[in-house]
Amino acid sequence: MTGQTFNDTFLKACRGEFTPYIPVWYMRQAGRYQPEYREIRSRYSFFEMSETPEVCAEVTRLPVEQLGVDAAILFADIMTPLKPIGVDVEIQSGIGPVISNPVSTLTDVEGLGSLNPESDVPFVMETVRLLTREQLNVPLIGFAGAPFTLASYMVEGGPSKNYHRTKGLMYRDPETWQALMDKLGELTITYLSAQIQAGAQAVQVFDSWVGALNAADYRTYVAPVMHRIFSQLKETTDVPLIYFGIGAGHLLQEWDQLPVDVIGLDWRTSIRQARALGIQKALQGNLDPSLLLAPWERIRERAADILEQGMETPGYIFNLGHGTFPEVQVETLQRLTKFVHQYSQN
Ligand code: CP3
Repeated sequence: MTGQTFNDTFLKACRGEFTPYIPVWYMRQAGRYQPEYREIRSRYSFFEMSETPEVCAEVTRLPVEQLGVDAAILFADIMTPLKPIGVDVEIQSGIGPVISNPVSTLTDVEGLGSLNPESDVPFVMETVRLLTREQLNVPLIGFAGAPFTLASYMVEGGPSKNYHRTKGLMYRDPETWQALMDKLGELTITYLSAQIQAGAQAVQVFDSWVGALNAADYRTYVAPVMHRIFSQLKETTDVPLIYFGIGAGHLLQEWDQLPVDVIGLDWRTSIRQARALGIQKALQGNLDPSLLLAPWERIRERAADILEQGMETPGYIFNLGHGTFPEVQVETLQRLTKFVHQYSQN
């Protein structure tokens, strides 16, 4: 890769600039749908893999080379920075993060440590350095889980459908909730600042499950910490900040108040609907990942419709509405990437 010109189309789109074509990357672009990933993964547990910088760098690069996407995303997990602060987490294949010491009291929250990225997650910092010093010709996106989404795993002890325990804690014991948000807010700022310092050229904050809250509760219990995270990052860096959630269309107006550059949409809210609500920030999304199992003609039709909407205003990045998944064919994403580039070329 060294010696090739650097492709900054993605960064330009994040900043709301016109681009010669629409840039594209896919959430979970490194993963089990790739035979090469499965081969590497068969030799390690998820965390063993993500604690080995050379392996992380290799799986981060793989989709860039294989699919031709315009950005790479660091290979790690939203749970990665929680292990060193005392959360006993394991990734169980087909389930997700499972935690053996869930949080429920103020004492539990106060018992959590704080993160020193260089000593606690040196493998993440090293992966970012390896990739950005010489290996990539596209921007590297760093990332973190947002406090609500991290808290949902920490309180439930694993994935959940309704977040009763998480929201129960929030409504029952606002003091403990506040302490947890403060702790995770600090962690997110420290962790993302370190990734940016090490070379990440953009960062995405995954608030996958925050759509479980209504707008008023989001404003009360979550918006303050999100505001703190993004404003502190804005004070120290000018890399684009991306905020993404699933089923969060009803929170768009709250999100628009935050100092972020890009809003990631899932497939439930169209680009045009977001624009009609007055959102002027750059947008990213939002093909329903399930469509990747449909015949090519249907995928093409939907992708073209989304591109038409995205191209109406500068500042648009094509992506899925959530992550790709193991049953998807590599060829489908290769074809889709080519299609996005060709269709949007001006
Ligand atoms: O390619 C990329 O997108 C970068 C790496 C990345 C992973 N997880 C790797 C991973 C990113 C950005 C994440 C984010 C993540 N992890 C989120 C936020 C985005 C989202 O999907 O909503 C969440 C909620 C998690 C928690 C988590 N980790 C889940 C739900 C799972 C999937 C469990 C499964 O087996 O389906 C994981 C594990 C995980 N993280 C995998 C990968 C590639 C699969 C693990 C494996 O190889 O077994």
